[in-house]
Amino acid sequence: MELISQRLCMEKDLGIHGNLFGGIMLSWLDEAAATMAYEVCHSPSMVTLKIEEVIFGKPVKIGFHLKIYGQVARIGKSSITLDIEARKHNVYSGEETVVCSTNFTFVKIDEQGGPIPIAEEIRKEYAHLN
Ligand SMILES: CC(C)(COP(=O)(O)OP(=O)(O)OC[C@H]1O[C@@H](n2cnc3c(N)ncnc32)[C@H](O)[C@@H]1OP(=O)(O)O)[C@@H](O)C(=O)NCCC(=O)NCCS
Repeated sequence: MELISQRLCMEKDLGIHGNLFGGIMLSWLDEAAATMAYEVCHSPSMVTLKIEEVIFGKPVKIGFHLKIYGQVARIGKSSITLDIEARKHNVYSGEETVVCSTNFTFVKIDEQGGPIPIAEEIRKEYAHLN
């Protein structure tokens, strides 16, 4: 997987149980995944269509340093699906622990908001995944 983004969990990000609020985590993952979709598809005209099962496997506490990783799972005609993981990073040992995982599907859109094809050369590059 490729490193896309890094985040620090701060007090303002916590929910009522003292863990990172799930909706904040989702917005971080969505933003990180969107930037990866833009880069892979060479276009910023990508919208989030779908978020699959999200597993908040471990609590994220104040001060945790998170690294967000992604990899292309599949590219269709107009859509791209990315596997996404947030990992807690220990700066002393370099150890990483997955705290949240999911996958996102984005669709490339035209000016009217309708789906349009991702460039053929990009689709060919990832055809082996389909
Ligand atoms: C994304 C959007 C343009 C798709 O429009 P649509 O009319 O459903 O498009 P289509 O039915 O032609 O499907 C487009 C692609 O999505 C895929 N798709 C549609 N429904 C899907 C589903 N439930 N699961 C997985 N893929 C799906 C289709 O397979 C197709 O992919 P492909 O071209 O790679 O084969 C439309 O749903 C939309 O505008 N949604 C709102 C997006 C949004 O506001 N997101 C939040 C802010 S970014």
